[in-house]
Amino acid sequence: MTETSMTQTGEGSVEARYPFGVPSGWFQVAWSDDVATGEVIPRYYFGRHLALWRDERGTPHLNDAFCPHLGAHLGFGGRIKGEEIACPFHGWQFDAEGTNTCIPYSNRTNQRAKLRAYPVVEIGHFVMAWYHPEGEPPSWDIDEPAELTDPEYGEWTNVTFSVDAAAQELAENSVDGPHFRYVHNTEVVPEIQSYETDEWRARMRSVQRFPTPRGVVDGRIDVDNQGPGFGVTRFSGIVDTFLVGAAVPVDANRCEVRFSFKTRSLGDAKTTSSVGRAFVTEVCKQFEEDRPIWENKAHIVRPALADTDPPFMKFRRWYAQFYTEGNSGERDLWAPAPPPPGEQPVFIRPEATASSKHRVSD
Ligand code: FES
Ligand SMILES: [Fe+2]
Repeated sequence: MTETSMTQTGEGSVEARYPFGVPSGWFQVAWSDDVATGEVIPRYYFGRHLALWRDERGTPHLNDAFCPHLGAHLGFGGRIKGEEIACPFHGWQFDAEGTNTCIPYSNRTNQRAKLRAYPVVEIGHFVMAWYHPEGEPPSWDIDEPAELTDPEYGEWTNVTFSVDAAAQELAENSVDGPHFRYVHNTEVVPEIQSYETDEWRARMRSVQRFPTPRGVVDGRIDVDNQGPGFGVTRFSGIVDTFLVGAAVPVDANRCEVRFSFKTRSLGDAKTTSSVGRAFVTEVCKQFEEDRPIWENKAHIVRPALADTDPPFMKFRRWYAQFYTEGNSGERDLWAPAPPPPGEQPVFIRPEATASSKHRVSD
């Protein structure tokens, strides 16, 4: 990595809200449809301005955004030429590795002018980029879930959430059965049967009883995570629903979460789609109920736990491997920023904001 690709303006200027920074892993930076062949779009993830582009052969690439010549953002008007991207300002061209391949008004190239490049893979519906704070190469490959190509599963429903909290805080929910009763008002809570971690993988197996108008149905919620950015949840019971949950850090304090749902066919398309939709609506409602907790909670390094609490610390030990800096031990409680001068915090009931805070698209 060269000096020009290392630092971006504003990096590190965000006040630390957590004892951890941006984790490493594979993260969803787009759905496949978000970036067309021959197109570039601007993104902001990992505390960095980025350009996501798809070359004329259809392969997606992610690079730091700022041209090392005079700093133009490649995501604002950059042009794709074959398998290279041309800067909108003076036309310098770069290949996917970020090497300068052409200066249109010179016979030479500038080999010091280098754009940081991020490894990218496209798995079905998902454009995944590998991020590591020090630019280390990927330490694992993503296992493709079978449902991605299973004809029994229909169309995708996509939902995006932006959350003012670190991705880890949201992920901790994956082991948190007890909160369902208090945050989501569910009478029955999922019962964790097992929670196992194995290097970058974590798997949670649980049983859940779903109340329906025709009585309680026994179901399951099984979660398989591959690092901090790619988790598969399989719901069964009422209807088999497959959900890819992909959190991507915007910076150390904020994240975006993409949910991609597929429902196993119930026979006729209309029933499948209406049952599937009702399920998506319920999951989104629950997400909005969780939001005020995540956005306003402190991170307590050594929490006071009940003997019957789920394996929160096992989860945290697993997640800690994705940070390069290690947890800072200087204090036990990390709180959100204080309110602006003269203002007091305001609690807005989740129902009132549910529709405006996330986007559903097909
Ligand atoms: S700023 Fe990119 S070519 Fe000049
Ligand atoms: Fe929740």
